[in-house]
Amino acid sequence: MKNFAVFASGNGSNLQAIIDSGKERKIKGKLALVFSDKAEAFALTRAKKAGIHTATLSPKDFPSREVFDQAVIKVLRAYKIDYIVLAGYMRLLSAGFIKAYKNKIINIHPALLPSFKGAHGIKDAFDAGVKVTGVTVHMVVEEMDAGAIIAQRAVEVKPKDTVETLAKRIHQAEHELYPSVVNLFVSGKIKVNKSRVTIV
Ligand code: GRF
Repeated sequence: MKNFAVFASGNGSNLQAIIDSGKERKIKGKLALVFSDKAEAFALTRAKKAGIHTATLSPKDFPSREVFDQAVIKVLRAYKIDYIVLAGYMRLLSAGFIKAYKNKIINIHPALLPSFKGAHGIKDAFDAGVKVTGVTVHMVVEEMDAGAIIAQRAVEVKPKDTVETLAKRIHQAEHELYPSVVNLFVSGKIKVNKSRVTIV
């Protein structure tokens, strides 16, 4: 069984869905570490409650993104991490980090990529008036929200929706989709060929 780490900067509701799915033995990998760049992230509280190791490093203690990421890599090596699952990790990864874990990092984005990239995917889609938005799980490459798409789930925007009600359904869709994709990923079943992903 391979080890994986979840990286989270905030609430950690996706982390929680992964923890719960793991408890039900639906993920054939070991969540060996939850890493955060924010010591106050609620995700860390969730991890500790579930008895999962946590680690935090603060970017302000490092001179550059590359140096910070090299320190993160040291932590990952200590925990023998094979795969990395980003779940609300609000920091761009450096080129060196992506190279060290090529095709070993996935992320979840709350819109149907390649539309509505960036930190406000739900609101941007809502403001654009789209009738369908959703969630995307993708490989992580240097450019933000640009890696090969692994899985998507559509969410309809209803006439009476507000950003808040839409966000609620988007998060529900995330929590349904992400744990199953994490399982495929840590089981080595996701193969990448340029912009195409196949599940073997
Ligand atoms: C999610 O909407 C995810 O798509 C985005 O950040 C949010 C994290 O939420 N990348 P949570 O911390 O998992 O609750």
